[in-house]
Amino acid sequence: MTVEVIPFFHVGSNTFSYLAADPASGDAAVIDPVLEYDPHSGAADEAPAQALVDAVRQRGWQVQWLLETHAHADHVSAARWLKRQWPQARVGIGAGIVQVQRTFAGPLGLPQGFRSDGTQFDHLFVDGERFAVGGVQARVIAVPGHTPDSIAYLIGDALFPGDSIFMPDGGTARCDFPGGDAAQLYRSIRRLYELADATRMFVCHDYGPGGREVACQTSIGEQKRGNIHVRADTSEQDFVRQRTARDATLAPPRLMQPAVRANIQGGALPD
Ligand SMILES: [Fe+2]
Repeated sequence: MTVEVIPFFHVGSNTFSYLAADPASGDAAVIDPVLEYDPHSGAADEAPAQALVDAVRQRGWQVQWLLETHAHADHVSAARWLKRQWPQARVGIGAGIVQVQRTFAGPLGLPQGFRSDGTQFDHLFVDGERFAVGGVQARVIAVPGHTPDSIAYLIGDALFPGDSIFMPDGGTARCDFPGGDAAQLYRSIRRLYELADATRMFVCHDYGPGGREVACQTSIGEQKRGNIHVRADTSEQDFVRQRTARDATLAPPRLMQPAVRANIQGGALPD
């Protein structure tokens, strides 16, 4: 069953959010929705999420799932805001969120009553878990490495790998956040490479390297042939060496503190 995928690009964080729908039933999932957030004024703007609401309304779809690929460090999730628009939708994230919550609760000074048990979300997905978007079968593939809670969603023939892997010329995501692990990311990507070459892949970020226009869609086959960090024949050792050297040069994301703080609470905005 072919799933219809509509991308939405957020300029401020170079994030792609997606609507993935079963056109036959009109049931849909949203992947990685973004809320505009200004850390200086503390002001939030739901315009990027409103665009999702408008697109869903135009098509007469019903959103059943609000899916996070991981607790993002570069933007605030719009899942909580969207849940108010669509109360039937369930917010899902990987079960590893519990580990991320334990790691960050102290350093981010979350209140005493904060529970590091994932209950801020409606559903915690485990590796291999199956679910459905209307009549389209879906499956979760754990892809730890960038973060411990990273999961990929395979919905029909469309894969949403989160921040494990970017477009072929964008390589892979950094592995230097607390709980990140380059060797683990390599093994996660090898698991994705076991999928059929024709599997469509929709990336979470694109920065248009070399001045090309931003793009969001590639395939497993294209990645295996051309990803600048992990091709089909790249060794774990080579990848880890390259990834670690690159991570040593990267600055922390601008929104890291408020974004992680909000996102491990299921998209609760900073005070
Ligand atoms: Fe990320």
